[in-house]
This record gives sequence, C-alpha cells and structure tokens, in this order.
Amino acid sequence: MTEQQKASLRILLESALTKTSDDKQTLAALFYQRLFIVAPGVRPLFSNKLSLQEAKFTQMLESLLTSLDRLDHLVPVLWESGRSHKHYGAEDAHYPVVGEALLWALEQKLGSECLTDEVQLAWQELYSLISLIMQEAAKTA
Ligand code: HEM
Repeated sequence: MTEQQKASLRILLESALTKTSDDKQTLAALFYQRLFIVAPGVRPLFSNKLSLQEAKFTQMLESLLTSLDRLDHLVPVLWESGRSHKHYGAEDAHYPVVGEALLWALEQKLGSECLTDEVQLAWQELYSLISLIMQEAAKTA
C-alpha cells in the first residue's frame, strides 16, 4: 500500500468516525443495518447486544486508523480475530458481503463524492488484506 493510499484512508476513516449527521446514525449502526438487509442469514450469528457490537466495530476501525503506518503490528490481532470468527460461524463467502456493507456505510456517511476511485481502491486493498489474514487464520481454528 502506497503512502498516498494510506493518506487517503486516514482521511476517509477519520471523517467517517467523527462526522455527525442530522440523523445521528453512526458508521457502525449504518453498517449493521445494511449487513442484516443484504445478508439476513448472518443475523443469528450475532449474540452480543448490537450496541456492544457497534462499539467493538468502532474500536476496530479506530485501531486500523492508528495502525495504518505499521499494519504488521495488527497481524497477530487479526489472526486471533480470524480464528474467533470461525467459532462465531463466519464463512469465507461472508467476507465480501461484509466488505460491501462497510463500503456502503462509508458512502452513506460521507457521500459518494468522498469515495473516489482512488479511495475505493485503497480501501479495497486494505479490506482484502485484512480478510485474507482472517480467512487464513480461520483455517487453523
Ligand atoms: C475484515 C472483516 C472483519 C472484521 C475486521 C471484523 C471485526 C470484528 C470485531 C472487532 C469483532 C469483536 C470481537 C472480536 O474481535 O472477535 C467481531 C465480532 C463478530 N463478527 Fe466480525 N469482523 C469481520 C468479518 C466478519 C464476517 C465476514 C462475519 C460473518 C458474518 C463476522 C461476524 C462476526 C460475529 C458473529 C461476531 C461476534 C458477535 C457476537 O458475539 O455477538 N465478522 N468482528
């Protein structure tokens, strides 16, 4: 991932996490609403209260933001998370669906003009990397 891509992602995530809109919907809330519409089958996998899950999701994006310059530090965390996800019931086929819902939520929150081709490509690269690590780890769980 290039420095330019990291810079774009930093702006994207910072804005998405801090921007408040009139309807007060957080990025996390938008993400789960979308996920459960496009993939209702995954809803029963989530046993936590949704507000708690949304808080964990936000924390995860915040650590991504602070670790963009040293993504290698995240590998052990993502590996463990991938193994846990196997136990939650996450399957390989769910990862692209989650990625789409996340992109959709970012677009709702920030407006499509913020998601230029360049930013989308950088985001997809980051998401693919994370998914790959988690999916590889899941095979060992
Ligand atoms: C890159 C992709 C993903 C990331 C970064 C991510 C992140 C997280 C985080 C941070 C948590 C909180 C607990 C933990 O770390 O284990 C979590 C929990 C969870 N995730 Fe994911 N996740 C991803 C993909 C998925 C996918 C594809 C599914 C499949 C439906 C999924 C389903 C779940 C479930 C069921 C829980 C537990 C919720 C509960 O116990 O109520 N996640 N995820």
